Amino acid sequence: MIFSFLRCLPRIVLMIASDPPVFRILPRLVKTAITALLLWPTAAAAFMTNPSDIAVIPQPVQLTSTGGGFTVDSNTHLLADADADLAAGELAERLRRATGHPVPVRRPGSARQPGRIEFRLTPAPRHSGFDVGESYRLRVQGDVVDIEAHAPAGLFYGVQTLLQLLPPDIYSKADNLPSTRDLLIPSVKISDRPRFAWRGLMIDVSRHFFSKDQVLKTIDAMAMHKLNVLHLHLTDDPGWRIEIDAYPKLTDIGAVGDRTNPDGPERLYFSKDEIREIVAYAKRRHIMVVPEIDMPGHSMAAAKAYPQYFDGLKTINPANPDTYTFVTEVLREVMALFPGGYLHFGGDEVRDHRWADLPEMEGFMRNNGYTDFREVEAHFDRFVSRFIADEGFTPIGWDEVASFDVAPTTIVQWWLHLRPESLDLAVRKGHQVIISPTNYLYFDYPNGPGEPGAPWEGNDNGPNSLQLIHQWEPVPASYSSQQEALVIGVQANLWTEFIRTNEYFEYMLFPRISALAEIAWRPKGKKDLDDFVRRLAFQCERYAAMGLNYRRFGEWPSDFRYLAH
Ligand code: ACM
Repeated sequence: MIFSFLRCLPRIVLMIASDPPVFRILPRLVKTAITALLLWPTAAAAFMTNPSDIAVIPQPVQLTSTGGGFTVDSNTHLLADADADLAAGELAERLRRATGHPVPVRRPGSARQPGRIEFRLTPAPRHSGFDVGESYRLRVQGDVVDIEAHAPAGLFYGVQTLLQLLPPDIYSKADNLPSTRDLLIPSVKISDRPRFAWRGLMIDVSRHFFSKDQVLKTIDAMAMHKLNVLHLHLTDDPGWRIEIDAYPKLTDIGAVGDRTNPDGPERLYFSKDEIREIVAYAKRRHIMVVPEIDMPGHSMAAAKAYPQYFDGLKTINPANPDTYTFVTEVLREVMALFPGGYLHFGGDEVRDHRWADLPEMEGFMRNNGYTDFREVEAHFDRFVSRFIADEGFTPIGWDEVASFDVAPTTIVQWWLHLRPESLDLAVRKGHQVIISPTNYLYFDYPNGPGEPGAPWEGNDNGPNSLQLIHQWEPVPASYSSQQEALVIGVQANLWTEFIRTNEYFEYMLFPRISALAEIAWRPKGKKDLDDFVRRLAFQCERYAAMGLNYRRFGEWPSDFRYLAH
């Protein structure tokens, strides 16, 4: 304790010496210092967030530190109307747990007292851009904290920033205080908005399955980074992971086992109730969940369950008319569970199929005038993308689908770094695109030289290190502003061929997800690696408070020569 208090002393002295307004809060500082001495182990936290320690990730677009601070104490209350309930509820709950104070939420009609944290929804300016609902302003000044936005999402992001002005243990789920304590929020003026509308993370639950609880924990971490799309890769060769009523064998047979234990015996999948819980949990955190049902390739698990619609191995049989009934019935059930309105149909790596062995294939190709299997693949992708679009959903496909005549509303997700022409083709055709190339945003690739991770797919760029990701500009420099407007965002992908445990899963995500958040949120070209590394030290303390197995600061490689690739 003494140690920690001494560590903070120079900061207090510096504040007093350098900042005249601090005299106004001197009595409070003295009180807090005494409290700090009495209330170990939480004492250090009361001083953690002095202005030089402000460490928000992603860094807000504009942040001015104005000196002084707002004390969270027994007077603190929230003023929020019903639209702000979710954001206010989260903040009140965390403040209560961290301080032991009651922190009530009151409606705006009540008297506006000092000590309030006020949530305000104001009309959006005319002619505002698509992402105005995610923008916010946060002012911490004197006895008042003010969070203003044009939509609940903005208020939510304002709260995420405010939480990072508090000590890292604000993220702890434990009520670990021996008694009440006050917290100091440094005075700031922040004005913030995201660069990209799509700030995504994909989790592959097919190769190895990750439980609902692990998914919810990941959603909490995504929210803290202001990410807003969780893409669940629900089906692939090793396992089918979502319950479908019309085709029970998909989980009775297709969900058995995983890449490590292909024979199970466990069936590993999400029930419909679990999916609903994940979707609702994410929605409360302004995160949309996007399901992926990968087809026509990558389908061995489904092929084991319903071989009549497949080619004898792992690829759909587009020459069987009944296949289309199977596909549409499955997708209708999936869409009913994901109200976000986006459905990813895969479309990647259609290779090693056995279409040539199917007796009905020759007639199918002749009737349609096809001479090669690429046309058969195009036929299927066209059908499925149009079906999804006709159902009122937005289809998404990996970049292979850009070669085909898929529904114009299809979003193309560029993944293969060594194939930039796919991205260019998609953009030329007017598709919206998501940028998620292997050599930056595949989080199954190693963090550092010699570290564990997937070795393949053009992983020729050195490791996908935190620094590499942070310094990368996702939009090709050659793009015009019209082309750039089609880039709706960025997404990292966590494939799980080698990732079997929650600990390994978290080690690969954290802290790289912080670098993802910076490229997804920060304005173009505004990145400061040194300052990012400074802020990351605090972020790692937050990860620790959240019980995440993050990659440790001191373990980072110091040789960054590969950054100059
Ligand atoms: C992929 O990595 N096959 C999309």
